[in-house]
Amino acid sequence: MKNELSQILGEASAEIKNQDADLEQIRIKYLGKKGKLTDILKKLGTLPAEERPVIGAFANEIKTKIEELIAKKQKELAGLNIEKKLAEEKIDITLPAKQKETGKRHPISQIMLSLEEIFIGMGFNIVKGPEIEYAYYNFDALNSPKNHPARDIQDTFYIRKDEKEIREDDILLRCHTSSVQIRFMEKNKPPIKIVAPGRTFRVDLDSTHTPVFHQFEGLVVDKNITLVDLKDTLEAVFRGLFGEDAEIRLRPHYFPFTEPSAEVDAKCFVCGGNNENCPTCRGEGWLEMLGAGMVHPKVLAGCGIDPTVYTGFAFGMGLERLAMVKFGIDDIRNLFENNMRFLRQF
Ligand code: DAH
Repeated sequence: MKNELSQILGEASAEIKNQDADLEQIRIKYLGKKGKLTDILKKLGTLPAEERPVIGAFANEIKTKIEELIAKKQKELAGLNIEKKLAEEKIDITLPAKQKETGKRHPISQIMLSLEEIFIGMGFNIVKGPEIEYAYYNFDALNSPKNHPARDIQDTFYIRKDEKEIREDDILLRCHTSSVQIRFMEKNKPPIKIVAPGRTFRVDLDSTHTPVFHQFEGLVVDKNITLVDLKDTLEAVFRGLFGEDAEIRLRPHYFPFTEPSAEVDAKCFVCGGNNENCPTCRGEGWLEMLGAGMVHPKVLAGCGIDPTVYTGFAFGMGLERLAMVKFGIDDIRNLFENNMRFLRQF
């Protein structure tokens, strides 16, 4: 029986040596319930009493040895796996690294965020309105008569337009953010203090106009709001954007939705009004920046706000215009051509 046991050890160790994967099968074959070693141990009872402990001890020794051999082989295989993995995952550190480009905000977004920050600091709320709009909100409610030139099919992108008559429920791409004023006043009572940034659309294309552009609308309605509040607010905004020396002036103008109305100019940021040959203001000393005025009583009344109790001011500025002046860009189309070399400068 001793010989048999030695033979089993020989067989098992040879098999373990040559095995490169499933060691569990070998364990079962020799040490399992029906394994070869177990079979022999079952016959222990047939031996004479004095031989039993000797053979039993020997069998245990063989069992331990086989277990040790399996454990050793297992370690060996694990080591091999790691080395194989390391070899496969070798990194060539001499290869040039992949370049990662850090993005940055588009000049228009920069201006928009700066304005939002300035207005939030002054207690304004930011509101949004739809880009696809009813003619009512874009024109009628803003006191723009049915024959207003901006309503012309050539000036405005219509999505649905009645062929026979001009209608309030024609649908178009809004040509200014002023429509948001109406939507807000319909649903909210004074005091109102909002700004509405957003995309706007007109059939226009030259060095200062693009079909898609951005506006930033402002509206304040409360008791005792005057033109002084308008000028003071806009001055604070321009100082926030362009520095403490910024100056503005109001020039009489006409808008259907404000009375009186004004165009707002800013002192030229390049020459400060001191250079007759300044390429930015063309010697004017002032740059036309935005439209503004006191909300027309008809507009307030149309939204259910009593114009004998409340007054308000409003303004609307083009963000492209602001960006062009702030960053010294001379052709608006540069802002929309996705030329990274151009945009990266700002
Ligand atoms: N909506 C005008 C435009 O697009 C700008 C404007 C002028 C807005 C006067 C206003 C305003 O709110 O009061 O040209």
